[in-house]
Amino acid sequence: MPERFQMSSFLEGLPLVSETDPQWGEVACSQLDAVLRDHAWCEFKAASAGLGMISRFPDQSFLVRPMIALAQEEMLHFRQVTDLLQERGVELGPPIADRYVRGLRKICCRSTNGLGVIGDHLILNAFVEARSCERFRVLADRLQDAGSKEPRLAEFYQRLAEAEARHWESFRDLAHQVCDPEKVNRRIEEVAQSEAKLLEQLPVEARMH
Ligand SMILES: [Fe+2]
Ligand SMILES: [Fe+2]
Repeated sequence: MPERFQMSSFLEGLPLVSETDPQWGEVACSQLDAVLRDHAWCEFKAASAGLGMISRFPDQSFLVRPMIALAQEEMLHFRQVTDLLQERGVELGPPIADRYVRGLRKICCRSTNGLGVIGDHLILNAFVEARSCERFRVLADRLQDAGSKEPRLAEFYQRLAEAEARHWESFRDLAHQVCDPEKVNRRIEEVAQSEAKLLEQLPVEARMH
């Protein structure tokens, strides 16, 4: 059994202001195969987003190494989740449009009080990582509770939650490097409020976001 997940709150260390609806944990645990499929694509998209940062901002050489490292780690996660799908006899299937990321992109990148294109993209990615981290924590906690039917998966999600927490910090730190840190912190607080509202509007479904 993995060591019990110890957290005063699933939001610890994250910029988020709202916890995931507890119903999501129930729905996700009752349809794990569907969640894993969606999750696999989230990892794929996270790797693409990292590579996209390099091609979108070719003059920002400070992004190159961290984004390569991120993309490599996300591709490793993609491989791990697709291995799990294979073990469970579940097809990957096609990616499904991510309404959460679409909504978040509107919040981060189409606002007049943003940080400029590069800062906005860094904050967008920071929030996707942060919410993924929170959801992985919720899932890990739930799976530990589920009479240890999925102890390996609980451990897996606990490990991934730690990686996503690191990723949120990396994106925030990169934003601090390229924009005024005080502005970045203020923007993070604003986006956190809008992100919470966005989440409220989205249905509770067996998918990662
Ligand atoms: Fe990941
Ligand atoms: Fe990540």
